[in-house]
Amino acid sequence: MVNTALLYAPKGGNTENAAKRIQTEIGKDKVDLYNVSDLQKISFEKYKNIIIGVASISNDIWQSNIKTDEVVRLTAFLERMEWKGKTVAIFGLGNAISYPMNFVDEMGNISEILISKKAKIVGKVPREGYEFSDSKALYDGKLIGLPLDYTNEDDKTNDRIKVWVNNLKEFMIF
Ligand SMILES: Cc1cc2nc3c(=O)[nH]c(=O)nc-3n(C[C@H](O)[C@H](O)[C@H](O)COP(=O)(O)O)c2cc1C
Repeated sequence: MVNTALLYAPKGGNTENAAKRIQTEIGKDKVDLYNVSDLQKISFEKYKNIIIGVASISNDIWQSNIKTDEVVRLTAFLERMEWKGKTVAIFGLGNAISYPMNFVDEMGNISEILISKKAKIVGKVPREGYEFSDSKALYDGKLIGLPLDYTNEDDKTNDRIKVWVNNLKEFMIF
């Protein structure tokens, strides 16, 4: 039985690309992949592990943007769901050069919800190796999940995913 779901938003860009790479790294048959348009038809109750991928797209800039809408729908879902007993890992797409003060902020926003709902969050990442000034994803000096910057550091993405997935294996049985 597959006991890991990977849910991401938005569709069709770097977040989806990273979601597929992470699924492949863990093993395609070991992870069920979903995006926000699947939310109505899926029951997440059966999954012990949930990996969540989200892009940071500053809400105040593009209120009507479809990608922002998808992230808002993902957030609303996270607020509705029961998280107690689930092990959760987060990855976040961002751009550290264009948004150095808000790098991967959305990972911080969603982890606030998950923490308040008692999810067990694993897969934190040291901030060393990333160049940015501030981020809502910083918790006690560490990044709450895996930041990926396809625009400026795509050459590091594969290695970052490999190391992160290896680390997740300590906390998640796939
Ligand atoms: C309007 C807009 C706002 C963005 N805001 C942020 C931000 O606040 N922080 C950040 O790290 N990246 C930000 N980014 C960069 C995106 O997160 C990055 O391009 C990401 O790869 C987009 O994911 P996608 O390709 O799946 O849509 C922003 C990009 C756009 C277009």
